Amino acid sequence: MTDKRMIRDWDRFYKETEVEGMAWFHDSIDPDLEEALDRLGVTGGRALDVGTGPGTQAVAMAERGLSVTATDLSESAVQKAHLRATDSGVEIDFRVDNILSSTLGEFYDLIFDRGCFHGIDPDKREEYIERVIALLSPDGLLFLKCFSDLEPRQEGPFHFSPDDIKRYFGKEFTIVSIKQTVYHGTLEPLPKALFCVLRRK
Ligand SMILES: C[S@@+](CC[C@H](N)C(=O)[O-])C[C@H]1O[C@@H](n2cnc3c(N)ncnc32)[C@H](O)[C@@H]1O
Repeated sequence: MTDKRMIRDWDRFYKETEVEGMAWFHDSIDPDLEEALDRLGVTGGRALDVGTGPGTQAVAMAERGLSVTATDLSESAVQKAHLRATDSGVEIDFRVDNILSSTLGEFYDLIFDRGCFHGIDPDKREEYIERVIALLSPDGLLFLKCFSDLEPRQEGPFHFSPDDIKRYFGKEFTIVSIKQTVYHGTLEPLPKALFCVLRRK
């Protein structure tokens, strides 16, 4: 799919749909994100929420004291996420940005990707990884949540095994942990997912 078409499709979806009904909508901190922040003692620093969508996780990270930039290629998503942050009383630097051709010029201590990478075409995955590395500080962390190959539904995003993650990310990242979990949202039952903690080498 071309980037132009991808942007148009996502933006139309956010324009025409209430975010609360979206499969990935989870109006509090993702439990795996919370567990990883606690385990690693992350209480501050610069975080990027890539593919922020409704912005729930960007808000949750800001509420935990992180300085958050949140991006999405959909302008409508960014507008809706911005309203959520304002209602929640937190300040977040929102930008319309395609991670595959990102114009962000800063470095982040933590990048959280909850559902962006697993939707990216296989032939663009290397490009995604290059962009993420370029945005991470040395020793920076990537928290990656994606559908697991244990998820039986075939429609929707791509599915990954722990070995897939090691193969894609292992050269540039130290694999800190890969956990089998679920993707909290509005689908029943919750889709099976991986939560990966990766540290830039
Ligand atoms: C499955 S949704 C998850 C949204 C959000 N992270 C959450 O957990 O609620 C994936 C999001 O990634 C965004 N997205 C997809 N491809 C992207 C890209 N190349 N750059 C930036 N955002 C992208 C979509 O617009 C969508 O909001």
